[in-house]
Amino acid sequence: MIPFALTHIVGRAQQLLAEVLRPGDMALDLTAGNGCDTLFLVQQVGQSGCVLAFDVQQQALDQCLKRLSDHGIWCRQLFEPQALSPGVSLVRDDHAGVKAWCPLAPKAIIANLGFLPGGDKALVTRASSTVKALVCAAEILAPGGRLTVVVYPGHAGGAEEAEAVETFFGRLDAKGFSVLCLTPWNRQSSPYLLAAEKFTTG
Ligand SMILES: C[S@@+](CC[C@H](N)C(=O)[O-])C[C@H]1O[C@@H](n2cnc3c(N)ncnc32)[C@H](O)[C@@H]1O
Repeated sequence: MIPFALTHIVGRAQQLLAEVLRPGDMALDLTAGNGCDTLFLVQQVGQSGCVLAFDVQQQALDQCLKRLSDHGIWCRQLFEPQALSPGVSLVRDDHAGVKAWCPLAPKAIIANLGFLPGGDKALVTRASSTVKALVCAAEILAPGGRLTVVVYPGHAGGAEEAEAVETFFGRLDAKGFSVLCLTPWNRQSSPYLLAAEKFTTG
């Protein structure tokens, strides 16, 4: 993995997921965007693994597809839920509906909130669908798996979403999950990271 600055929050999120991901695993990207996180997940799980990436914008999925193909990775776009096969599947849908698309228990789930860099800044993730997606994510996450969310409180609506995401993580049962928050300390409104690990049972 490329070294990154102390407060590079997306890098920290990826680092936490890399610690639990193995070749052949299933991973989920709730916000595909330009595909940096999707590419990271594919690189961790390899060709035998399975990555499912969501976005509501076709522009984002096209960017994601281009990034992957620039790295020699082929992906399919799914238009309805179906049995997942190894490789990368892109889904143009609200991540609130993730459960219908994801029959397997992912080992890692990443969500990088906010707007598409270089895209329409008015099209942002919103508290209500984000929290619905996170509730499903916590339910389907594999035992020993991790969920990371990069929160951007700085844009319009960002603070409200950040509060809802904090409430979600704060309410995760301490008997089932450990939860971590990583926040740059001397910068106002900078992105920060919330992460959860699901305990293995027995
Ligand atoms: C910050 S970008 C994601 C960055 C991306 N992970 C990357 O590596 O480039 C946030 C993305 O979330 C998408 N988005 C917004 N609302 C969404 C929703 N309800 N469901 C799925 N994706 C959504 C936006 O279209 C945007 O592309």
